Amino acid sequence: MAPTTGPTTAATPSGTPRERWSSRIGFVLAATGSAVGLGSIWKFPYITGVNGGGWFVAIYLACIALIAVPIMVAEILLGRATRKAPVGAFRDAGGGRLWRGVGWMGVVTVGVILSYYSVVAGWTMHYAWLSASGALRQTDPQAVSAQFAAVHADAGVNLAWHLAFMLLVTWTVLRGVRAGVERWNRWLMPLLLAMMVALTARAVTLDGFGAALEFVFGLHGADLTARSVLEALGHSFFTLSLGMGAMITYGSYVGDDDDVAVSSVTISALDTLISLLACLMIFPITFTFGLAPGAGPGLIFANLPIGFAQMPGGAAWGTLFFALLAVAALSSGISALEVVVAHAMDEFGWSRARATLTLAAAIALLGVPSALSGATTVFGSGFAEWTTPLFGPGKGRNWFDTFDWLASNLALPLGGLGVAVFVAWRMGPAARERAFCAGSSWARAYWAWLWLLRWLVPLGVIVILLNALGAFGGRLG
Ligand code: PHE
Repeated sequence: MAPTTGPTTAATPSGTPRERWSSRIGFVLAATGSAVGLGSIWKFPYITGVNGGGWFVAIYLACIALIAVPIMVAEILLGRATRKAPVGAFRDAGGGRLWRGVGWMGVVTVGVILSYYSVVAGWTMHYAWLSASGALRQTDPQAVSAQFAAVHADAGVNLAWHLAFMLLVTWTVLRGVRAGVERWNRWLMPLLLAMMVALTARAVTLDGFGAALEFVFGLHGADLTARSVLEALGHSFFTLSLGMGAMITYGSYVGDDDDVAVSSVTISALDTLISLLACLMIFPITFTFGLAPGAGPGLIFANLPIGFAQMPGGAAWGTLFFALLAVAALSSGISALEVVVAHAMDEFGWSRARATLTLAAAIALLGVPSALSGATTVFGSGFAEWTTPLFGPGKGRNWFDTFDWLASNLALPLGGLGVAVFVAWRMGPAARERAFCAGSSWARAYWAWLWLLRWLVPLGVIVILLNALGAFGGRLG
């Protein structure tokens, strides 16, 4: 493995130096750090719960394998070929206005995502703190749920941790790709994985484990709607950091002879493993203690403390788990901020310091309404919650949910579609094949990948989007 200190730069097509990952494994870890985060451990279990498990999980897995992985390969290749953040990448690869627009949409979306992601990351930091201070040692499920509701409604707590998280992200991104971004992931990610395996092993012994398995993997229930299918697709992009330029940007630091196909499959497999482990850690508690699987964004915060309270040394386990989850969120948050920072450096010629400080401040500000959205008493519920036809009848959503819904289920699928169509149909065939095959031990998979990217990915995304908008009569299954 190459040494990790001191920036390595290499000339880009335009002659300006650009940082590189220190090694292939450094890239895989950083990209896995971007992928694995709150999406896998907080969001996936909660949307699985809301969407009734089973079929939702199956469709999600199909979206990962057939749609998201080919797009990840395309994003990394586009970044590597151009050595640019999304807007510059589309331009340098020959894209006109429309394509630059897709890049811009990604940059804006990733900023919006970071603004509320930081609020959830703040909850995990607060829970690490609560656990360490012993305040989490509740065994009554009602009390644990009430505790989360109280945290969610506390404007001061939400704001303080949101800002703390944004400061950590800013500090890391300021230090640059290798010194800052890469270092965090090297040993903390394996530690998180080991801890999740241990917690899952423990969950196996709970009475509710069988019910949890059936809920997550059993193909049951006819409650799958067209919107759930869109949500599964949107989440496959969210969790793999696709459709908003993060993998394009990280790809722009990848070495010329790295094996992009193998790296993409590795990153996606690790993320999927962690997402499934998260479900197998959480749902046994849900079913053992008679909690609601569809509890929504508070699911892990209302479930895991009960599990920890039952374990010897539970406070220490809980502290470590929530702290590691905050670190996983940090490595994802870093990749999100890195996109907008790299964009400003590439397009406006800003220094890293100027780009990081200005944009992080703007995103932190944008996150304030999300941080306050549980504290409806501050503004009165009319401000924070509304219902629109877009979300389906009777579903009130606040600022936070609205951002998350629009980003994940609209902007990311459109962004992913843009990358797929661009790389599959617009990029020069010779350049595309060269880009795929450079360094790849899977060169023979080129045609399969291209076929997926040309046909299945665009058709899949378009059909799922139209279906959710009601084009084919609305309900599925
Ligand atoms: N993939 C990250 C997660 O699952 C979320 C993320 C979104 C990261 C956008 C970067 C950019 O937590």
